[in-house]
Amino acid sequence: MNIKFKLITYIIVTIMFMACTNNHNNNNTITYSKVELINEKVDSLIKIMTLKEKIGQMNQYNGFWDVTGPVPNGGDAEEKYDHLKNGLVGSMLSVRGTKAVRAVQKIAVEESRLGIPLIIGFDVIHGYKTLSPIPLAEAASWDLEAIKKSAQVAAAEASAAGINWTFAPMVDISRDPRWGRVMEGAGEDPYLGSKIAVARVEGFQGDDLSDVNTIAACAKHFAAYGFSEAGKEYNTVDIGHSTLHNAVLPPFKAAVDANVKTLMNAFNEYDGVPATGNKYLLRDILKDKWNFKGFVISDWASIKELVVWGYAKDNKDAAKMAALAGSDMDMESHIYIYELEQLVKDGVIEETIIDDAVRRILTVKFELGLFDDPYRYCDEAREKEVVNNPKHLDAVLDMAKKSIVLLKNENHLLPLQKKGQNIALIGALANEKNSPLGSWRIASKDSTGVSVLEGMQHYKGNNLIYKKGADVSVGDTKFVNEIKINTTDRSEFKDAINAAKNADVVVMVLGEHGFQSGEARSRTDIDLPGVQQELLEEVYKVNKNIVLVLNNGRPLTINWADKHIPAIVEAWQLGTQAGHAIAQVLYGDYNPSGKLPMTFPKNVGQIPIYYNHKNTGRPVRDESNPNLVFWSHYSDVDNTPLYSFGHGLSYTSFEYKNLTLNKKVLNIDEDVKISVDVTNTGKITGKEVVQLYIRDLVASTTRPIKELKGFELIELQSDETKTIHFVLNKTELGFYNNQGDFIIEPGEFEIFIGGSSNTNLNTRFELK
Ligand code: NOJ
Repeated sequence: MNIKFKLITYIIVTIMFMACTNNHNNNNTITYSKVELINEKVDSLIKIMTLKEKIGQMNQYNGFWDVTGPVPNGGDAEEKYDHLKNGLVGSMLSVRGTKAVRAVQKIAVEESRLGIPLIIGFDVIHGYKTLSPIPLAEAASWDLEAIKKSAQVAAAEASAAGINWTFAPMVDISRDPRWGRVMEGAGEDPYLGSKIAVARVEGFQGDDLSDVNTIAACAKHFAAYGFSEAGKEYNTVDIGHSTLHNAVLPPFKAAVDANVKTLMNAFNEYDGVPATGNKYLLRDILKDKWNFKGFVISDWASIKELVVWGYAKDNKDAAKMAALAGSDMDMESHIYIYELEQLVKDGVIEETIIDDAVRRILTVKFELGLFDDPYRYCDEAREKEVVNNPKHLDAVLDMAKKSIVLLKNENHLLPLQKKGQNIALIGALANEKNSPLGSWRIASKDSTGVSVLEGMQHYKGNNLIYKKGADVSVGDTKFVNEIKINTTDRSEFKDAINAAKNADVVVMVLGEHGFQSGEARSRTDIDLPGVQQELLEEVYKVNKNIVLVLNNGRPLTINWADKHIPAIVEAWQLGTQAGHAIAQVLYGDYNPSGKLPMTFPKNVGQIPIYYNHKNTGRPVRDESNPNLVFWSHYSDVDNTPLYSFGHGLSYTSFEYKNLTLNKKVLNIDEDVKISVDVTNTGKITGKEVVQLYIRDLVASTTRPIKELKGFELIELQSDETKTIHFVLNKTELGFYNNQGDFIIEPGEFEIFIGGSSNTNLNTRFELK
């Protein structure tokens, strides 16, 4: 460690020592907690920082040159390098690998006046090099332990590669599958979303942030980004307070309660105020009401965009609004670093606002242990051992299997027989090694996923013939480019049809390319892209024994397939081990138990469609006058979805019976105890997600017709019955009023239990 770094550490430690000796109790034991110690160190450091250096901590730059090559000479890179040297950069993103991180850290630590280490951020979304399924797919597992484990694996690899902060989890609730980023979240439900947010935060951050294999998490995007109008990326959001408090904010609140260290702004506006400059969201709710102690990072250039929104008149105005609102760090707007100093000198922003932001940022750096050793994440030997460690393959394979949802399985077409069958495997996606990795995999090598073809080739008892049928996309499939879909080339249909004619079973892998979902990948048509639907129908004409395996980052509208195809498997984009996971499910070596975390619509016109909608004043047709049109419906499609939230089958079957309550009338403080018997009525062992929903029948603001309030993932052997118990109390039975206060009201509640949100097994109780 260099002299400067030692010096600053020495000063801090000395001050601390003095402070501590003043706090001995009678037994002469130091009474400072770890938190207090860090607070003291941060305060001592802030005292010796210049205003410029403080603002520097609030500045984050993207990796700007090949740090292991020559120092930049001229242009933007030279300017950034200069800032780094002068202590005017607090963080960098997208620098990765121990060598590169060490190189930038060295400049910050050894060349700047105070030697304050950088915090290194990266989008570790569903893995670093070894990839788990996309987050929406993981959510379909409803398996919180597995999701936590997946985040742990991601944190282990990323931290070994020099990274100490991930921009994950994305906890945006969304009801709109047109929005490309639904792949990055946990779906449409705030309860499931909250549980998954906590699992991911705990997985990334562990019990102790200073452990070298944990990283700081970032709940994003605060807030309401998932409600972008018409599912169009970066669009306006216009939702009311009831939706904000009851649907959007709960997963953020859960992440904050789980001690998430950072939050990220959203690109959208809320109520006419862009999220990055939204004081109501950032200060009033997040920092004041929730007492969030970590820091808020802007999204990429979102401070600058306050000007584009027409909310700030120039960069200075934007800096003022963002800082006053509570955005603590500027990601790539390059505005704080140029504007904040003068704003403070002019008295427009009080220095205490800057101090507060810096305190939050430095605290996380201390907690990560960066002040103890700024190179602690830069151990090359550990990097070699941990990144791409074969053990991680088992973990992501396990997660991938758990993420698969069996949507349909007529006449037990699945699982496939292992011997003596002619199987035709069709679809370009069946032979894809790149698409299963999804769109958020900056550090992973292209085309390193196991394809379905490779996965199925492991089963040697059958005669497997592969035919592409048709390409999904044409030309480039680079991350930054728009995917061009094949809408014309049917030249290989014939081969596929011929293969299907002679097959006992046809497995067709169809859907979206990995780069068709993700940021800036909104779609207005969510059918099977390109000529794939035609291919499916042509193959069906010669062989109806089709298993459709879907690859996609969002719900799709697959009505025709649902009507005609006997077996449909939702296999998302499952990461590095995709093909093995799919093959094991198809061949019955793994019995699927996933449940949809998002409703599948029948057509785009039904969107937004979600299970926890309101009743409306006219929910059903007037049975006494069925010709009357005046009820809440469409005239061209019914109100029900194609597949409900929570839906998912197994190779066995389950029966629910004996739903009982401890009492029918309870005081508001009492627990409601619920039990139900679940029996495996099929022939093999299987897992089931037992789901509990409530309906608050009358309330001061209208409540959804069903709300998930509990679930348990159980395993049952054939014929086995288990009694499953749930306890509900104020936390589950209350809701947020339009002021954002959590309230519980007496009255009648309905309870539903089953294997999906469209269960009808129900009972009632009353809260006095
Ligand atoms: C923009 C995205 O919205 C955000 O989620 C991501 O973390 C940043 N870019 C950094 O890559």
